[in-house]
Amino acid sequence: MRKKIVAGNWKMNCDITQTYELLDQLKEKELSDDVEVIVAPPFTNLQSANQALLDTDILVAAQNMHQVANGAFTGEISAGMLQSVGVSTVILGHSERRAMFWETNELLASKVNTALENDMTVIFCFGEELEDRKSDNHFNVVKEQLEEGLYHIEAASWSHIVLAYEPVWAIGTGETASPEQAQEMHSFIRRTIADKYSSDIAQEVSILYGGSVKPGNAKEIFGKPDVDGGLIGGASLKADDFAAIVNAFE
Ligand code: PGA
Repeated sequence: MRKKIVAGNWKMNCDITQTYELLDQLKEKELSDDVEVIVAPPFTNLQSANQALLDTDILVAAQNMHQVANGAFTGEISAGMLQSVGVSTVILGHSERRAMFWETNELLASKVNTALENDMTVIFCFGEELEDRKSDNHFNVVKEQLEEGLYHIEAASWSHIVLAYEPVWAIGTGETASPEQAQEMHSFIRRTIADKYSSDIAQEVSILYGGSVKPGNAKEIFGKPDVDGGLIGGASLKADDFAAIVNAFE
């Protein structure tokens, strides 16, 4: 049975005080036992967040990492460094990393390799731009992102992969893909995995939807058969909203 997952991508928000406040509020919420809950604070707060959440089932993820183990890479953080503060999940390929920090599919493929070599779980993000959808090219773009960034991994590594389909036009815009659009793409993604690997792998992998998920639309989106949860940006910064999204599964 594949897992239901709700992950909060805090992006560049929350200093250490705000991190403790938000986590304290979250710890007071009733969160569904059926759902794996993940929060991804900024690098500086990962260790503190991990310690604050030790007595809970909430996992801590990083928002990015470098592909090399160590060396002269000013400003970068390695997989080993994340592991050393107890973080073994990493978000890779977020559209903001792709668009603002020039992360290519090729670079992401090497980050994925490093994460897997270090026994980490990868939340692999991808999704089309508005022009791709308007020109009916969205399936091709998504397929290419997956083929170039991820589909080189061995079948056995899929147990360390979570997918996050995030149409760029829906991120932080208030515009959400309709539940039908999300379902259509998620089922397409599963088909491409089945073609390349096997239908068992395709059925086992969790595929999250991301892009303006809110308490008001989560239930309908998560109700679709191929949507296994969400990657949540803005709404993950409010404990009430994030908890409501975690609890939005039927
Ligand atoms: P959003 O962000 O929920 O604020 O649209 C989603 C994301 O960037 O992962």
